[in-house]
Amino acid sequence: MWHNVLPKPQTIVERPGQFQIRGRLRVFVQGPAADDTSWLARVNAAVRRLVGWPGDLLHPSADRPAADMWIESRDDAEPGYDLSVSQERIVLRYGDHAALAHGLATLSQALLLLSGSGRSADLPAVEISDAPHCEWRGFMLDVARHVFGPDSLQRLLDLLWLLRLNRFHLHLTDDQGWRLPVEGYPRLTSIAAYRELGTSDNQRYGGSYQHAELRELDRAATDLGITIVPEIDLPGHASALLAAYPDLSCSGAPMSVETRWGIFPAVLCASRSRSREFFEAVYATVVQVFSGPYLHIGGDEVLPEPWRECSDCAQLANPYQTIVRSMADSVVACGRRPIAWDEAAGLDLPRETIIMNWREPAGAVAALEKGYQIVLSPERKAAYLDHKHLDSALEPGRLAVCTVTDAASFAPEDYVATHADRSGVDGGSILGGQANLWTEEVLFHRHVEYMAIARLVATAQGLWSGVPAARYDRFFAAFDDLRHKLLLRGFAVYPGAVA
Ligand code: ACM
Ligand code: ZN
Repeated sequence: MWHNVLPKPQTIVERPGQFQIRGRLRVFVQGPAADDTSWLARVNAAVRRLVGWPGDLLHPSADRPAADMWIESRDDAEPGYDLSVSQERIVLRYGDHAALAHGLATLSQALLLLSGSGRSADLPAVEISDAPHCEWRGFMLDVARHVFGPDSLQRLLDLLWLLRLNRFHLHLTDDQGWRLPVEGYPRLTSIAAYRELGTSDNQRYGGSYQHAELRELDRAATDLGITIVPEIDLPGHASALLAAYPDLSCSGAPMSVETRWGIFPAVLCASRSRSREFFEAVYATVVQVFSGPYLHIGGDEVLPEPWRECSDCAQLANPYQTIVRSMADSVVACGRRPIAWDEAAGLDLPRETIIMNWREPAGAVAALEKGYQIVLSPERKAAYLDHKHLDSALEPGRLAVCTVTDAASFAPEDYVATHADRSGVDGGSILGGQANLWTEEVLFHRHVEYMAIARLVATAQGLWSGVPAARYDRFFAAFDDLRHKLLLRGFAVYPGAVA
């Protein structure tokens, strides 16, 4: 059973015997995790939802000798953990808080794999020692094309936690919708948040998150060892914004929230001061709502025509450089690290900027050569979850095919070495990778699960181990086991062929 946990823990040594869990675990907690135990309730709730455990699995106890489980600090503040299960007790030794969350996720996945017995489990004895290879192990959900509510986001958080992924990137704005309320800009919620959709009962489709909902999600994520990465996609992909505030464009012409997908000449004016006032207000809001160190500024697929036709922007040598630089500087001034899509890799941006490569591998190399740290989420046959699972007219999905086996061929350093002929790149420059789910044709939560989960299991293995999942000889057998258990728990995992 332990060998079917995914991602595969670094070392697993099975021992004779088992630890019997009957209903609950009395847990003695030592170290920094004892100071604030909000994670306990969060993990209990996730275990109920994921595993179907009736009631709380973990019960805090001050009585160390009588406890079933000891959770102890390793005092090294590293992201690794050690999990030991013997007949007498379970011992989890953690580095940093994320490591604690990862150790509990491994234990919980074991309960899922053993599931069937309801309130009890016989956990085989084992010694596990584990740590992630990639620092950045992400999943992006596009909540702009279609909005997914707090319950949906929470359920995805549970899954990310189960797979020991640690970045949840929310693509909060795009041509088809703006999801974040910002003080002083009320038309973002009354106009930019809605598109016309003939099939909805009231002809208006969309909505915004409330700050309190996002703060709660942020807290839940932190407890589970996950950092939320909010994205405000500018200066392009701005139709929804400009429908609400046309004077933020160069021409001021009226615009609609887009109902089609594509790349539109809806661009923030690169030279007028009200553009800067606007994104500064947005970033100030983001910083108040999300606690993580990153703020993704977008930067992809910008059509320059409106700038050429603008009497102010036409004066600039490079309006794209001017506005993206100004956005990134403003993020740094807020104390956050900017992230931009790889269209911006050729620009001069603050050195803290992280480039997220989605197009050709050459873009990754260009970014590395410029000295940026990068995250890889390659569109082609690796990390784009809007693509079909199979080349079949019966499969949902669009634009291309990315099978589970394709996703299992991806790991960041391997990708750069193979596709860009660059091995031995400074390890610290490639932070990791992520899979992205664009939702232009994904309207419902179940459909999100269908598109995301199966391939994310493969991505998670590649990111955790640093080696493509397909090179782990037990991967597909373990994948089948985990997929089966998740299906039984009601997750809408893609059930078909992996290649
Ligand atoms: C992207 O797919 N436009 C980042
Ligand atoms: Zn302009």
